[in-house]
Amino acid sequence: MDIPLFEIYWDENDIQAVKEVICSGMHWSSGEGIKKFEDQISQYLDTKYCVTFNSGGTALHSLMKAYDFGPRDEVIVPSFTFIATAYAPMYVGAKPVFADIEKETFGLDPEDVKERITSKTKAIMPIHYGGMPCQIDELKSIADDNDLLLIEDAAEALGAELNGKKTGTFGDSAMFSFCHNKIITTGEGGCVVTEDEDLYEKLKMFRSYGRTVNGDYFTNPENIDYKEIGHNYRMSTFQASLGLSQIGKIEKAIKLRNERADRYNRGLKDLDRIKTPLPPDDRYNSVYQMYTIRILEGRKTRDDLMKFLKDEGITTRIYFDPVHEYSVFKDFLDEDIELPMTKKLSEQVITLPLYPDISEENIDHIIDKIKKFF
Ligand SMILES: Cc1ncc(COP(=O)(O)O)c(C=O)c1O
Repeated sequence: MDIPLFEIYWDENDIQAVKEVICSGMHWSSGEGIKKFEDQISQYLDTKYCVTFNSGGTALHSLMKAYDFGPRDEVIVPSFTFIATAYAPMYVGAKPVFADIEKETFGLDPEDVKERITSKTKAIMPIHYGGMPCQIDELKSIADDNDLLLIEDAAEALGAELNGKKTGTFGDSAMFSFCHNKIITTGEGGCVVTEDEDLYEKLKMFRSYGRTVNGDYFTNPENIDYKEIGHNYRMSTFQASLGLSQIGKIEKAIKLRNERADRYNRGLKDLDRIKTPLPPDDRYNSVYQMYTIRILEGRKTRDDLMKFLKDEGITTRIYFDPVHEYSVFKDFLDEDIELPMTKKLSEQVITLPLYPDISEENIDHIIDKIKKFF
């Protein structure tokens, strides 16, 4: 049997949670479950406000809009990311400015970020790759020193910590994704967390067609007004109820992911042609949303390994190719974007199967096959 890259961590409580919403015969779209899920996320992260969305990408679009970024503005982002990070500024006509990454966490390199700041820069938007915190404390200092916003694209890193502080709580705001390969999932979904009340109100309005309303719009609306053009970017009550059930399992899921990652780390440690994703030091707590190793010889050996594992029934993937090289950007960007570490690492990385329920036998089997390949 083939080993998939990921499997969703779910149980009977998830089924029950969705079933209760169905059986209520009401409020499938917006209902109390949404606020409950938002409160639960706020409590878990110890943030003041949380707004859910129907995806991480729409959450990012809403953030760019709520901060009022536009054509004269620049946002510094990594190219070593999922494309949504780079699209976000472009949704509102702003420019993504790509900065390089460092090899310890695969996150934005603070030194390179400093070089990319111009008079147009409004924000720095790092990601926490595969659940490993980036050097977010350094990026925060840079943002503060230069009077810039720090927006965490924490899509992959719910529950990760740097120095005991959770990712998503360092910046002015942060986005998390609940897509089905993330730490918890609602199928599709996302949220923004922040301490900023004004931002919170703007986000809620934008996700609901730019509407202000008292009471429940569908059953008992009062004082409706449409103040600006918005979208329907709302999460449904099914998803929120599923999210509530999922977040109840988050500690267990993170513990299992860490145990699985440790097993890989121990099994692969004697192979000097690869590098495992160890945290740079004990301040970093990864949630291992992905388990990505580096093949130090680069692209040819990496691609050969990928093919070898595929033939053995083991699914792997490249996360990420540098997004600035995709054709969608060719009319927007300067031609000479130099990101040497991004280029080097993107030719070395290969993501192996890791999920809470992957068996130890399967991990040992994958380790054996990698050893056989080398
Ligand atoms: C770093 C990063 N940013 C943004 C997103 C977009 O989230 P979603 O897929 O929920 O729209 C993802 C999800 O894959 C991601 O990994």
